[in-house]
Amino acid sequence: MMLDNPADKYRPFVAVDLPDRQWPNRRLETPPQWCSVDLRDGNQALIDPMDLERKQRFFDLLVKIGFKQIEVGFPSASQTDFDFVRSLIEQDRVPDDVSIQVLTQAREHLIDRTFEALEGAKNAIVHVYNATDPVFRRVVFNVDKDECVQIAVEATEQIRKRMEAAPETNWTFQYSPELFSTTELNFAVEIVEAVMDTFAPSVEAPMIVNLPATVEAATPNHYADQIEWFCRQVKHRDSLIVSLHPHNDRGTGVAAAELGIMAGADRVEGTLFGNGERTGNVDIVTLAMNLYTQGVHPELDFSNITPIMREVEHCNQLPVHPRHPYVGDLVFTAFSGSHQDAIKKGMAERRANPEAMWEVPYLPIDPMDVGRSYEAVIRVNSQSGKGGVSYLLEQEHGIELPRRLSIEFSQVVQEVADRTGKEITSRMIYQAFADEYLEQNEPFALVGHRLSSEPDSPRVHLEAQIAQNGERRTIRGEGNGPLAAFVRALAAEGQDVEIIDYHEHSRGQGADAEAVAYVEVRIDGEAVFGAGIDESITTASMNAVMSAINRKLSTQAPAANVTAESLA
Ligand code: KIV
Ligand code: ZN
Repeated sequence: MMLDNPADKYRPFVAVDLPDRQWPNRRLETPPQWCSVDLRDGNQALIDPMDLERKQRFFDLLVKIGFKQIEVGFPSASQTDFDFVRSLIEQDRVPDDVSIQVLTQAREHLIDRTFEALEGAKNAIVHVYNATDPVFRRVVFNVDKDECVQIAVEATEQIRKRMEAAPETNWTFQYSPELFSTTELNFAVEIVEAVMDTFAPSVEAPMIVNLPATVEAATPNHYADQIEWFCRQVKHRDSLIVSLHPHNDRGTGVAAAELGIMAGADRVEGTLFGNGERTGNVDIVTLAMNLYTQGVHPELDFSNITPIMREVEHCNQLPVHPRHPYVGDLVFTAFSGSHQDAIKKGMAERRANPEAMWEVPYLPIDPMDVGRSYEAVIRVNSQSGKGGVSYLLEQEHGIELPRRLSIEFSQVVQEVADRTGKEITSRMIYQAFADEYLEQNEPFALVGHRLSSEPDSPRVHLEAQIAQNGERRTIRGEGNGPLAAFVRALAAEGQDVEIIDYHEHSRGQGADAEAVAYVEVRIDGEAVFGAGIDESITTASMNAVMSAINRKLSTQAPAANVTAESLA
């Protein structure tokens, strides 16, 4: 049960004393070095850790995206990881410009096994860690500060010697004070400097110091303060590549990484879509795309994000959330009517000026840039208005409803959406449109027509064959155009129709092109819409009039026979 006073159980973090902090004034203008830890930290958090085949697929994907540093495993802890590292090296699967990174605990026999795994690698990062956090020192390892430093220093010395003994590999050394973000800052600097004294990095050959928020325990500005404080305090800062490794326990891993880079870090470790222990590692896709939306290329290629997501889902055997930033199945979709209207207007402006800066309301990024189409942008449910309905009819079926008709028809769709509580797909919308307007063939139907005209006269004579309840007869009329002649012919039969409004357009191209006609007519003092489609514009317009008459004569309420099932 939640406590009345959580302060009895939980301690708030203590702010870093850094009144002249500089990071809030900085901007993100270049991408950091990226290191994917999917195959190690991410893998350690999976229900079913990856086998060799899945690891290989994931590795190839990371290379294709453009990662130059990839933590491929924990070979001293897992035989699969050991075998994977060996297969990468022996099968020469690592491009020359990519460094493979492996994690090891600070224990000599594990370090030996780690170097065994890496034998023959071209570029390798050996990543050693030990826990520096006070709770871990006391509760888990029962070591004091000096013993903790000694563990790190001894491991560093062992690693340095093994690197010197294998000069054919281009080595980089990485040290992580584990749970950096909950370690006393002075002690973090002390232990890192002791490690540096042992390894002796230089400006030309720097080492990586990785500062993990192993368990995210404070607001991201606090992590940024810690990073800036560390960067200012540590000696020989220019011999270090300062790396961030945020986890996401408070849901602010991305913010922590961004502010941490502003605070002076050079590198970020994370995973694709944020898989990792508990709530995950920081999500590199979001970080990269956040940079991209600020006009900074992240130097990672997510041009085709959906197959990347599917591949990661396969390798991790975990789904990516449909609302995941930039990639989830629903993130480029608007259901709300007001959003749909705004997006429609933004898209129309963009079509008119495709080179302009991206300014489409509600879409922080052009879906096309990550290989997504505009098709899924607008979807219709009970929250949608006419904008979404007419957008889908137009985009996917080439039906450009006149405004007043779109208002009427959206009520037909709204009624179905409200009644079913379900999404209404574009196919269902088209079927509803067809049922409601195009397929109104009873009691009147147009069977055929013939037009003739006098030379030098605008008047046309129309002879049309119509069927009324299946019985055919011929009607005749004349007027200043086929539609006017048709209306006259109907009037001669006692069917008075006054055209209030008329629209037409073509849909499709070439031999498949069709005409779509819409009428608003007055019959017995009441305005009614009709619509018709045909290869010939004249037939389409006459069909539209028939549709309006039939709808008026119909004894059923317009949408009464439209159900989700009948549309599906
Ligand atoms: O989260 C963490 O602290 C780690 C270390 C091994 C870097 O994964
Ligand atoms: Zn981690």
